[in-house]
Formats: sequence, structure tokens, C-alpha cells
Amino acid sequence: MIEIKTQAEIERMRKASQVVAGVLLRLRSRVKPGVSTAELDRFAEKSVREMGAVPAFLGYRGYPATLCVSINEEIVHGIPSSGRVIREGDLVSLDMGAVCEGFYGDAAVTMAAGEVSGAARKLMEVTGRALELALSEVKAGARLGDVSHAVEKCALEHGMSVVREFTGHGIGRRLHEEPSIPNFGKPGSGPVLKAGMTLAIEPMLCLGRADVVIRNDGWTAVSADGSLAAHCEHTVAVTENGCDILSAAPRLKNDNLV
Ligand code: MF3
Ligand code: CO
Repeated sequence: MIEIKTQAEIERMRKASQVVAGVLLRLRSRVKPGVSTAELDRFAEKSVREMGAVPAFLGYRGYPATLCVSINEEIVHGIPSSGRVIREGDLVSLDMGAVCEGFYGDAAVTMAAGEVSGAARKLMEVTGRALELALSEVKAGARLGDVSHAVEKCALEHGMSVVREFTGHGIGRRLHEEPSIPNFGKPGSGPVLKAGMTLAIEPMLCLGRADVVIRNDGWTAVSADGSLAAHCEHTVAVTENGCDILSAAPRLKNDNLV
């Protein structure tokens, strides 16, 4: 069953999602060569708590951190560590969730540390574009397969591949609710979207093949062929005419909300 949220519930999800978006935005300037992924995680946890929210990933199925930091061939679920230091040219994806008043928000971004290769830049751009195209399919009456297909089509058109082992998901009172949202699918298939459904849509693309291997830490998902990967995610609410992007980036000036 795909739950329909009331507007009041959606506003609580917006609060949680805006905490996530605000922290991800503040992290942008901190993702640079020489910074360890554990430092980013500490900043994220402190910021989430200062904003009156609770980290959603910390302790989720035993996950040990606030942030997932996935670098280069790492696709998702990279565990922050003091020994992992960002280097010039790294492609860095940050994924975070927060809970506010019992409701979840979840979002991810991929960014460059310093100058990255042209191929890395293109992967990052196409992944962002795939998310935009997926969001443009969301509205009451559309089918979930339309959304999934938009991601797959965008990736394939650019000679990239989509990860099949991980999906987007419904979100609300729990981090993961129904439905599961694959990044591939047939237009016109799957559940019909209704106003008030809340979804976390998260394309994961690879430059090479999309086969996944999980590292020995039990979490970090990497591309089996070592090719670069990128990931981005928004939490949205379905509306009659489109979607309400609950995790849309706020505007910041000198690290403060405008
Ligand atoms: N955005 C990811 C997801 O929805 C992150 C979950 S990481 C975990 O699955 F640590 F919470 F598992
Ligand atoms: Co998610």
C-alpha cells in the first residue's frame, strides 16, 4: 500500500527535507582535497542536531554514520572514515537523511573535488539531468514506470548505465516505504501516482557497466568494473499537476539561510 500524506504531514517532511538540503549545501564548500570523510560526517551530524532534527541513517540497520560519502567508483553507502581523505579530482557523492517530528527527508548530491575529468563532469551532469527528467514525469495520474523509464532513457542516451540493485523508495513516517522506485522500467507500467504520495527518487549511474560489488565493510557499494559512479536524490510530494520538491536546495549566503 502506498500511503497518502496529508498536507500537514507533507509540511513536516518538508522540514526534515530542508534540514537535509541545508546541510548538503553547507557541505559543498567543505568537500575539497585534504578533508577526511569523517570530518564531513561530524559537520553533518552537528548541523542536523543544531537544526533540531535527528540523523536518519545513523543506526539504521546498523549503519554507523550520519552521512554516506561515496567517492569515484563507490556508488552509494560509503562509510565516512578519518583515513579516507578527499583528493583533487575525486567525484564525491553525499547522501543524508533526517527525521523531524516523526517524519523523514532524504536527499543526495554528487559534486567535484577540485578539477575532475571531462568524463566525470559529464556523468555528474547526466545524473542530475536524469533526476530532473524523472521529476518532470511525476504528477497525479502518471505511472511509476514513467518515472523509472525517464532515468533509464536519459542514462542510455548518453552511453551510461543505471544501477539495478538499489532503488528509490516511498518515504514518510519511515525512511523506506512502498513503493520501490527502480531506475529503469516501462512507460505506462506500475502503480498510478496520486496526490499526497511522497517519494525519494534517486538515480544511480555508472560510466561503465552497472554491476555492483559490496566491499568487506558490508556497506560500500562499488561498480564491479571500477568505473565512476554518481548518485543524486530528492524527496518529493506528488501533486495534481506535478511535484513539490521537498528537498529543493535553500538559498544560502555566507553559510546562512537567506
Ligand atoms: N538514500 C539511501 C537510501 O534511501 C541511503 C540509505 S543509507 C543507510 O537507501 F545507511 F541508511 F542505509
Ligand atoms: Co533514499
